[in-house]
Amino acid sequence: MQDNGFEVTPWDVEGNVDYRKLVEKFGTEIITDKLKKDIKKQAGEDHMYLRRDYFFSHRDLGKVLKDHERGDGFFLYTGIGPSGPMHIGHIIPFYFSKWLQERFDVNLYIQVTDDERYWTGDGTTEEIESYAEKNIMDIAGVGLDPDRTFVFKNKEYMGNMYEAAVKISEKINFSVASSVFGFNSSTNIGMIFYPAVQMIPTFFEKKRCLIPAAIDQDTYWRAQRDIAEKLGYHKAAQIHSKFIPALTGPEGKMSSSKPRSAIMLDDSPAEVREKVMKKAYSGGQVTKEEHRKKGADLSVDVAYQWLKNLFMENDDRLEEIGRKYSSGEMLTGEIKEILAEKLNSFLEEHRKRKEDRGEELKRKMMYEGKLARRMWDKKVDLR
Ligand code: TYM
Repeated sequence: MQDNGFEVTPWDVEGNVDYRKLVEKFGTEIITDKLKKDIKKQAGEDHMYLRRDYFFSHRDLGKVLKDHERGDGFFLYTGIGPSGPMHIGHIIPFYFSKWLQERFDVNLYIQVTDDERYWTGDGTTEEIESYAEKNIMDIAGVGLDPDRTFVFKNKEYMGNMYEAAVKISEKINFSVASSVFGFNSSTNIGMIFYPAVQMIPTFFEKKRCLIPAAIDQDTYWRAQRDIAEKLGYHKAAQIHSKFIPALTGPEGKMSSSKPRSAIMLDDSPAEVREKVMKKAYSGGQVTKEEHRKKGADLSVDVAYQWLKNLFMENDDRLEEIGRKYSSGEMLTGEIKEILAEKLNSFLEEHRKRKEDRGEELKRKMMYEGKLARRMWDKKVDLR
């Protein structure tokens, strides 16, 4: 853990993250009201994740909007490390990408890092393959455009990308990699090579690449931005989200390695309700009498924070809940009920889409859709 009480790396988040400090430390920029207005203008509508500052930081987002306005276009890239079943935190960047894809009419590339997760020791080859298949089915449940989305597993697609990996890895030396990623002499050399692999999709098109993801992935993009122009490409742009905390408290992030304190996409409605009612960290007071007098601390209350960041679209209703709960008029059990209901309707819609069209969308996004066919026909090089 670092001196400021929190640490964020691509593999772990610890402590209570101070997002302002993190922006300073990483050298990113806060999404200003002006930028939000510009996005709204070009997208033709607002998005709750931006309005509530869940997506809060960026690099070069203004340039992306300019490219779009000029008609030069851009493309989207995001990914998943198949280390287990997906939780709510994992799927949010994919829903946000869907909105961006629809509103800006752009291609989206999704990298499934079966190589990375083997090197980080997240399972056997068979386990990781099985997580990858299940994760891709969940991504299919998001309902992305099957002709403008390409989902690929690194090990399977590597033959088409290796030329690019060779060129990228030549530009990064161990001294830079170890200082940026914290590698040391006991890190396996797969992990040392891996950053080049995660950078490849930023070079899939000559246009600017915009990456929607939580800010934990930023390290890769800092390294990409150091070398992109030398290779004749744009520096990758990003739009960063905060982390959804575990149910049990505001510290760290929700993680599939702690499924009991996470909401998993395949949790049943009864499991969701039980986890929220029993586990969600409360900013309310210990006794009912005290709560009625003092009210809740919204800043640490997981149910309120989740509603605010992700699940309560209606601004007036959110304001009302915040007012009543912080004054003690609403009890912890009541706000938790509201959250459990919202989560269950979100998950039900997700599962329904997955059951109805998941297999078909998966096949198209991986192999048969327009963009997928084009990508399988192509050798990715940096020319
Ligand atoms: P992974 O599998 O750790 O995470 C997948 C995506 O989910 C985001 N995320 C979260 N967001 C909010 N709250 C949380 N608690 C939370 N946990 C995870 C991550 O930021 C990420 O967007 N190496 C990557 C895979 C990858 C990738 C990419 C991710 C390859 N290329 C490009 C983003 C963009 C990984 O293991 O992600």
